[in-house]
Amino acid sequence: MQATTPAGLDRKEAAIFSQLDPARLPKHIAIIMDGNGRWARRRHMPRVAGHRAGVASVRSTVETAARIGIPWLTLYAFSEENWKKRPKGEVGFLMKLLGRFLKLEVPTLNKNNIKLEYIGRRHELPEDVNERMEWAREETAKNTGMVLTLALNYSARSEIVDAFKALAEKAARNGGLDHLLVDEEAVSRNLYTRNLPDPDFLIRTSGEMRLSNFLLWQVAYAEIYVTDTLWPDFRGTHLLEAIAEYQKRERRFGGLNDQHVPEPRPHKAKR
Ligand code: FPP
Repeated sequence: MQATTPAGLDRKEAAIFSQLDPARLPKHIAIIMDGNGRWARRRHMPRVAGHRAGVASVRSTVETAARIGIPWLTLYAFSEENWKKRPKGEVGFLMKLLGRFLKLEVPTLNKNNIKLEYIGRRHELPEDVNERMEWAREETAKNTGMVLTLALNYSARSEIVDAFKALAEKAARNGGLDHLLVDEEAVSRNLYTRNLPDPDFLIRTSGEMRLSNFLLWQVAYAEIYVTDTLWPDFRGTHLLEAIAEYQKRERRFGGLNDQHVPEPRPHKAKR
């Protein structure tokens, strides 16, 4: 089926998009943005120059995803491990970059009808960063298009620990452990991603074959795509090429290829 070209795509993006089946775009794309340090090292630049260059990739990827109508995009911006194990100077730079990004991008997010959300242990981030994050979230809260979720100070294992704690606390408030119901729905409802469907497509840049503690529960049935492209070189065209690869895959969710298979689990997503 010939796709109508969405407004705003450049010529190369439009050419790749024309090869896609618009009815089979992934609904939720999650991206592990990796390779900023290597990009900078190859240019004999400090690591932070790679992070700075990575902002243009975020902008291009977000805009292209919104233009082609992807409903949910989740970007792994800083892990809990990044936060704890990287030099203070680099972490401070990343925090400043995030603050500046939010301030500058809110008008573009609004122009593209994108709603901003976050996952991760926000309370451990500096207060001024948190305030800016909250401001940007509120400024975009009424948008009805793509939901862009930034994973900040995020760890999938911490998320699962927090979900179990929340379940135990709710049971304690509700008459004790006899009232503790643990099943997949209950766990999912208590994850940070409770308002998001599970990703159907996970992209990782810069060639590493790892999940790096990202959305471990949620990517159970996601298609995984790893590209050697370093994050600062990644653009909307790369996203569309990745989607072309996704559309070649056969999703079976544990079933057989000739059988009708349902979606992985019913989503509690609001839209
Ligand atoms: C991984 O590259 C990337 C990060 C830890 C930070 C991601 C940040 C950005 C893409 C820029 C800003 C983002 C926002 C949302 C404002 P790495 O440093 O681990 O690269 P390496 O593996 O090559 O060393």
